[in-house]
Amino acid sequence: MKDEVSRPKLFRTVADLREFLLPWRRAGKRIGFVPTMGALHEGHLSLVRASKAETDCTVVSIYVNPTQFGPTEDFARYPRNLERDMELLSHEGVEAVFAPDDAEMYPPGYNTWVEVKGVSEPLEGECRPGHFRGVATVVLKLFNIVQPDVTYFGAKDYQQSLVVRQLIRDLNLPIELKVLPTVREPDGLAMSSRNSYLSPDARSRATVLWKSLQKAQDLLAQGERDPQVIQEAMRQIILSVPGTSIDYVALVDPETLSPVSTITGPTLAAVAVRLEGTRLIDNLLLQP
Ligand code: PAF
Repeated sequence: MKDEVSRPKLFRTVADLREFLLPWRRAGKRIGFVPTMGALHEGHLSLVRASKAETDCTVVSIYVNPTQFGPTEDFARYPRNLERDMELLSHEGVEAVFAPDDAEMYPPGYNTWVEVKGVSEPLEGECRPGHFRGVATVVLKLFNIVQPDVTYFGAKDYQQSLVVRQLIRDLNLPIELKVLPTVREPDGLAMSSRNSYLSPDARSRATVLWKSLQKAQDLLAQGERDPQVIQEAMRQIILSVPGTSIDYVALVDPETLSPVSTITGPTLAAVAVRLEGTRLIDNLLLQP
């Protein structure tokens, strides 16, 4: 299938997508769903490939959701290129793309919001107030529209995957969540649509996130168990690179995202760094 080109069907409305999916569902076919904001890269494509391998019909949504961006964030300049995304998905044999506009997703009078407590509160939740409310709301809407059997998320947005897991559990959604590993550039930079904001110079400096995470893993391998010591070493590495500022460097419990006082089991190292106006995040599950 990989080298065959077949353009996915493009749907702009909920009604049209539902009409397309009904026969698949009636025939007992499994529907896989990959929600995205477009500007697709190999990270997204790894999710699409998993869905293609494991389900009968793959739906990809492409929607830059305004409600998950804060007023000073990058909603307006977020990269949008539907034609390029459709072309990439043509090579993956995706059955359907759902690319609604804002009026379709949030028509006048729209007034329902989904708030996941707990895992949404630290880290990104503290730095980006309202972000996960927007994510949870749009993801639940998309789940209701597509009604997938399986949905695929990337581990790069680790906290987002925990929020979605909680949403699925708490609201009894009959959806299996699969979280797939972060896809990295050869130099370790996690793939992200926001990497396109980086100048060539900032792009080469952006590897510092991955270097700081590797430092954490190395210190752990050398027997260090104090998260404060590891976090301080990570901070020093990041701040040694010109143009960086830190939103957070955290070692947390991978289930609850609460800070750990000593490392005794798997621990998530998570970083959010600003580099010349671009905010980048990354994480690594540390195994002592
Ligand atoms: O991870 C993303 O691209 C977005 O947060 C998502 C899940 C598509 C919701 O808008």
